[in-house]
Amino acid sequence: MAELLPASAIGTDRVRSDGADKVRGRARYAYEHPGPDPLYLFPVQATIARGRALVLNTSAAVAADGVVHVLTPDNAPPLAETDDRELAILRDAEIGFRGQYLGAVVATTPEQARRAADLVEVTYETEPHDTDFRPDHPSARLPEDPDSAEYILGDVDAALAGAHIVVDAVYDTPMEHNNPMEPHTTVARWDDDELTLWLSTQGAHPARDMIAPILGLDREQIRIINPHVGGGFGSKGIPHADLMLTALAARAVPGRRVAYAVSRQQMFALTGHRPATSQHVRLGADREGRLTAIGFDAVSMSSHTKEFPELAIKPVRMMYAAEHRRLTQKVVPLDAPVPSWMRGPGEAAGMVGMEIAMDELAVATGLDPIEVRVRNEPARHPDTGLPFNRRRLIDCLRTGADRFGWSGRDPAPRSRRENGWLIGTGVAAATYPALRQPGSIARIRRTDDGYRVDIGAADIGTGTWTVLAQVAADGLGVPVEQIDLGIGDTDLPNATVAGGSTGMASWGAAILLAAEEFRREHGADPAPGAESQAEAGENPAEEEVAMHSFGAQFAQVSINELTGEIRLDRMLGVFSAGRIVNPRTARSQFLGGMTMGVGMALHEKGEMDPRFGHVVNHDLADYHVPVNADIPEIEVEWLDESDPHAGPLGARGIGEIGIVGAAASIVNAAYHATGVRVRELPAFGDAFL
Ligand code: MOS
Repeated sequence: MAELLPASAIGTDRVRSDGADKVRGRARYAYEHPGPDPLYLFPVQATIARGRALVLNTSAAVAADGVVHVLTPDNAPPLAETDDRELAILRDAEIGFRGQYLGAVVATTPEQARRAADLVEVTYETEPHDTDFRPDHPSARLPEDPDSAEYILGDVDAALAGAHIVVDAVYDTPMEHNNPMEPHTTVARWDDDELTLWLSTQGAHPARDMIAPILGLDREQIRIINPHVGGGFGSKGIPHADLMLTALAARAVPGRRVAYAVSRQQMFALTGHRPATSQHVRLGADREGRLTAIGFDAVSMSSHTKEFPELAIKPVRMMYAAEHRRLTQKVVPLDAPVPSWMRGPGEAAGMVGMEIAMDELAVATGLDPIEVRVRNEPARHPDTGLPFNRRRLIDCLRTGADRFGWSGRDPAPRSRRENGWLIGTGVAAATYPALRQPGSIARIRRTDDGYRVDIGAADIGTGTWTVLAQVAADGLGVPVEQIDLGIGDTDLPNATVAGGSTGMASWGAAILLAAEEFRREHGADPAPGAESQAEAGENPAEEEVAMHSFGAQFAQVSINELTGEIRLDRMLGVFSAGRIVNPRTARSQFLGGMTMGVGMALHEKGEMDPRFGHVVNHDLADYHVPVNADIPEIEVEWLDESDPHAGPLGARGIGEIGIVGAAASIVNAAYHATGVRVRELPAFGDAFL
């Protein structure tokens, strides 16, 4: 087991080192790298959901003011690999979803590009399309990688038939859309066969690795620069077609920067989203509320263009044990935009069905919802049989119950009423894997007045600039002020993605290893110029223990008896996530996740219009995300701990667990308030009438 690092900077509350630059407008995002003489891109998009774009008449666009280039499938540079149909754009006339890129205009101003893109006339051959997701769709099938999609143990049907208590219900979650404040942005410049990209991405090196083979380039021919990123939530975890479009268009104007910021409306079709799911949950339990059978059959909406399963069964595999289990995951490929990662992919959706069902089990057994979870704590990972690193779900639940004031709660629905409002409280569990990605490299060099630490990591608003300096300071045993950190550039040593809640663990491990190496090579009094680097491999502990974080989410809601209006009164999240490197940035991460969970519960839903195949409410006027007025005091706590299995840093990732279980806690509270069981998210006002 790894020795924990004695911490001095780690664990201290430090303001963001990039904060002042951000509020002064000095932190430059991708679009703010125009260089001299920039050009701007606006796309031409399909207005049908399926068929072919037979002809693109570009003559009016080419002749329009300021137009420098019109990109179409006819003049698009060739691609070396075309397997990834989302990224291998402009290969042919085929249209897989409405909004798909068909071409682009490059012009001197963004307005000229937009105007000229409107002038491109497209002749379509239209085919009937289907964007209507339903779980019993005839084309529902196992995902291409069935390994993670089916897990069957014993005989669930027989066990359910003999169970003392049965919960059998279907839970539906809608399309939800990543809406980082900064849209997906690319500024691309070609110099001969070298491509430079100022890119809004969660991982410069991973993005480069993914696009280089498609463009037929060696990775060294691409440089990606991403010093500041205005949010991502998974949607910038892998490149989407906007990057390819800009890179292909810029090829026609060598030496010039071409800038494209995806519009808010375009984001709803082009930058990934959480697909709709339907989860049929069947729980069987004995008299004491112990699970004897878990059936969890999930179906998620996908795209013919590229498959993406929303693995709702993923958290169910490790949350609760039962002698009989049947977990299945299917996808329904449609003529629809390509789904992708959105904060807590798998867990966030799956823990809606699972944790509402656990609440229903509590009601059916007459047990307290905390007690029913305590009784169903598995001793080991129910699937792999591995012991958990340190599964402190019960500690989170009990600590939360204390802080939230859970004891003395009358479990009966509609038992609390004040001034015409029904008040209820609810709880749900949270979990997320705590993994390290191998391959991050940190380099440390002694300078005249401190240490330069370089790693190609990304700060997507999470605090990477701040916390990695804290880790480096403790690794080297120097004050944090002596650390000069470099991140956000493929010219820096390789780093893994800011995704899957793996950033801290992966980059932190590399920095600590490099610091150790530096001290060994250069001793206590290193001369300026002394340099070392090290690469973090896999976390060996992942072979021996099931690495997960846990949490407990508590919510109180008020629902108006006359109108059904729901208001969130308060929330509390208690998390077990290993050592917390910076309480300030960590709190923001948990809080942000929980706030997104409020959106899942009460606001967010992409309304697909099956007639046309597009999300109708594709802007922030109609697609509601929680705003300040929706968010009351949210309290965040964490257990004081260090995880020795997480390496010397002792920290696990915290980017995603905050959203997990949050929505379920809110609708469980709404049930307690009203006796109305919501099984379809979001719970709009009339859900409670
Ligand atoms: Mo997260 S959805 O893996 O960026």
